Amino acid sequence: MIFDTHAHYNDKQFDNDRDELLRSMPDHGIGLIMNACSNLGEIPQIIEMCEKYPHVYGAVGIHPEDAEGITDNYLDILTRYAAHPKIKAIGEIGLDYYWTTETKAIQQRILGEQVDLARKLHMPVIIHDREAHADTIRILSEHRVSECGGVFHCYSGSAEMVRTVTEELGMYVAFGGAITFKNAKKPCEAAKAVPLDRLLIETDCPYMAPVPYRGKRNSSLYLGEVIGKLSELLLMPPDEIERITLENGRRLFGI
Ligand code: NI
Repeated sequence: MIFDTHAHYNDKQFDNDRDELLRSMPDHGIGLIMNACSNLGEIPQIIEMCEKYPHVYGAVGIHPEDAEGITDNYLDILTRYAAHPKIKAIGEIGLDYYWTTETKAIQQRILGEQVDLARKLHMPVIIHDREAHADTIRILSEHRVSECGGVFHCYSGSAEMVRTVTEELGMYVAFGGAITFKNAKKPCEAAKAVPLDRLLIETDCPYMAPVPYRGKRNSSLYLGEVIGKLSELLLMPPDEIERITLENGRRLFGI
């Protein structure tokens, strides 16, 4: 059974076949899915999917690209939704300096606030870190993320940084389609550096489809490619990767 620890099935790209696709997942070995959240507007649909499909769970949080324009009471709204029994994490939250360096200050503020919230609610965080490694690690450390735990999703740091993330911050590290790309030397080295009890897999679908589907709409059905690549890198059978990442995901999210 496979656990896709990061997906966006509320995305418009699934509007035509969402129900059919999600319903079919267990038949294809996808036993658990964590749907991440980017802004308050997405939450009702995320909850609806949690309630409709036994294998779908959710997170609530404000993505750094949605940091601008948040309302003053956003933490109260997140708190209310986080009480739902199938909401298991605060995320995805983090820093993204690739598109939006001009919003650095507000991104940093709401990241810290949301880590504090996660600690208060005893929930793990799902971290998005793009071109912002140093600030992300600093803020997570200042806000004592090790007390609530969490995951660096679609990990893009170095193998060296893996040690900081897993040992100092006590977090998990997730890999998706990017490790199958031709120029993926850095994430592949990083994957080899992750302790086996900290490793997770994800799609980030509809984005980041693995080779040979690169550029197409991604879904959990393509996770076999990611498992195959990890099996090659870690010299372990695919079903062992599947078992370990499932166990890790369950432990992290308390499922
Ligand atoms: Ni995502």
